[in-house]
Amino acid sequence: MTKTRDEAWKALALHPDPTLVELFADDKDRVAKLSARLELAETGILFDWSKTHLTDSLLSDFEELAAASDFTAMRRKLFTGEVVNPTENRAAEHSALRGVGLDTSVEEAEALRHRMMLLVNAIHDGAMGEVKHLIHVGIGGSALGPALAVDALGRDAPKVDVHVVSNIDGVALEEAFEACDPATTLIAVASKTFTTIETMTNAQSALKWLADSGVEDPTGRVIALTAAPEKAVEWGVDETRILPFAESVGGRYSLWSSIGFPVATSIGWDEFEQVLAGAAKVDEHFRDTDGRDNLPLRAAFSDLYYLRLRGCQTRAVFAYDERLRLLPDYLQQLEMESNGKRVTVDGQPSGPTAPITWGGVGTDAQHAVFQLLHQGTHLVPIDFIASVEPGDMLDAAHHHILLMNCFAQGAALMSGKQSDDPHRSYPGDRPSATILCDDLDPATFGALIAFHEHRVFAAAVMLDINPFDQFGVELGKDMAKKIEAGGESFDASTEALLKAAGLN
Ligand code: F6P
Repeated sequence: MTKTRDEAWKALALHPDPTLVELFADDKDRVAKLSARLELAETGILFDWSKTHLTDSLLSDFEELAAASDFTAMRRKLFTGEVVNPTENRAAEHSALRGVGLDTSVEEAEALRHRMMLLVNAIHDGAMGEVKHLIHVGIGGSALGPALAVDALGRDAPKVDVHVVSNIDGVALEEAFEACDPATTLIAVASKTFTTIETMTNAQSALKWLADSGVEDPTGRVIALTAAPEKAVEWGVDETRILPFAESVGGRYSLWSSIGFPVATSIGWDEFEQVLAGAAKVDEHFRDTDGRDNLPLRAAFSDLYYLRLRGCQTRAVFAYDERLRLLPDYLQQLEMESNGKRVTVDGQPSGPTAPITWGGVGTDAQHAVFQLLHQGTHLVPIDFIASVEPGDMLDAAHHHILLMNCFAQGAALMSGKQSDDPHRSYPGDRPSATILCDDLDPATFGALIAFHEHRVFAAAVMLDINPFDQFGVELGKDMAKKIEAGGESFDASTEALLKAAGLN
């Protein structure tokens, strides 16, 4: 008989805590059992969870937790366009953008993508005059994905030089202006709602910059990426330059929609389609694979093990690949805005949900934060991400040293080292998973991101929380509006700060 969720958690809590070294000693097949390759069209990704505390029996009990959480039914709903975001009565159709989902949604996404392709190709073919630069203004999900993808994939001879500006601090926009020639610059205004104050203010300032620089018809240089096309029209953008996407695509899941316009503009249409194809491979794998063989689900088992059974409050991601230096920022929003919740779907207290996600790039982080990871009192599960093929053309020594350091850190965290001197002693038994890509090509990049999306969804299902709303961000926005409007008084500290800044 299927266990209830509570019974499944109770069974999980009964497991002993052998050390990683003991686990390896007990099972000579551990690496084979806990590693798996995901095959893409031309390349693949190796996932190795053997240096985590997952065991056969833990995996079995987590499979029971997934069954108790109706994981299969929830996953079906995700891919068939049913409501999976009950607080907003919405589906979450990001996979339809990659061709995997409800037929009508996939068709609609294809039609919108065709529109985007025509515009991207028109820019590359010179139909919009000479275009050397694109300033993309957006924030949160309308910026983090494009910034990451352009930085990761658009380094070698980009077709157009793309600058992603998110912060309302004018310093960010000024920096982009410095790097661009207004006569050959387009502005992409990316906002699902087309109301976000930071984006709309940056967009206005970008228009003013074009106008002040003598560009005729500055609004004619604007492309709107939005799920609210009527608002973009009101704002003055011509319909031919509005690239819409569906309301059922969440902001932090929107890289695959027209929000990916700067990515396609930078790397080219065919390469952008490869990003989608790589993500679609993961969609199919996630949709069609059961139990521990489902790799995003297995990653979620590991996440929940450390979160709920070992009390870890954070999880770190270190990309041993300079091209993925923005990945921790991206994953922070994906994980923390999705699963940073405190109540279940039914509104009951949930217990811990998302770990605080943080990280950096290797080897830099080794010389900054790894001290705590090796000897501090926090237990921090880590993901190491690297590529077998180098991203650089320099002497092979660079990439060898990079990869050897990555693997050495995982080994050292696990084994530790005893010493009579407590200052020189390393406790070890510190877990890490390694995600090793054959090559960081566009398809692999798309697969990596989709893997994380589904990992977050799988964890949410087992935690019984809604990963697709984000009401937590509203209160601060409302308060800022009230302060701006004036006429209301706030707490003494806020009043004093407003006064000190000359704002009241
Ligand atoms: O403030 C949170 C948020 O709503 C994110 O979820 C979203 O990615 C971001 O703001 C930007 O919203 P929009 O795309 O509507 O401008």
